[in-house]
Amino acid sequence: MLTALIMVAALAAGAPENPNPQHPNEEAVDPYAPSNANAGAKPFEGDTMWKAFHGQAGVDRVVDELVDLSLKDPRIKEIFEAHDMVRLRRTLKEQFCYILNGGCTYSGRDMKSVHKDLGVQNTDFNALVEHLQIAMDHEKIGFRDQNRFLAKLAPMQRHAVER
Ligand code: HEM
Repeated sequence: MLTALIMVAALAAGAPENPNPQHPNEEAVDPYAPSNANAGAKPFEGDTMWKAFHGQAGVDRVVDELVDLSLKDPRIKEIFEAHDMVRLRRTLKEQFCYILNGGCTYSGRDMKSVHKDLGVQNTDFNALVEHLQIAMDHEKIGFRDQNRFLAKLAPMQRHAVER
């Protein structure tokens, strides 16, 4: 009630409306239809892969290291720098959790439209995969499970890469 009153008072005082009330730390994006189909892969069955990644805490560590390494890598950092890394971390965590059958809903955009016009090349894709492998190694995810996960992502290469 108090929050509602403060919001009404702020609006009356001419404060700008938050363009992204659900995720106030993120930039607003153009409207799109959210769907798990946007994640670009079907989830694994059972809980083996979710356990292999050590659940949500493990997925969070892997995604954060993947993004951190990409932002430090002179080969690809410029592609990321101009974009909203708060949103990227959140949606990547959702996407990985969804694919690993961790029970998440993916609320992000589809792989084709989100990577359109980024100019990503195959070498950039390989650099990102290198970082993902390092992050999965640090999380002590077994080699076989790493490869099973990479095989799920592989078909997305043609959507992320520009020709
Ligand atoms: C299998 C490979 C990949 C997956 C699963 C993936 C996944 C994602 C996801 C979930 C998003 C956010 C969607 C949203 O905001 O709604 C995203 C955005 C983005 N991706 Fe990827 N990505 C992949 C490959 C790459 C590569 C190779 C690069 C560059 C080296 C890249 C650069 C970016 C950038 C810069 C954004 C932000 C775009 C924006 O905010 O408009 N991605 N990606």
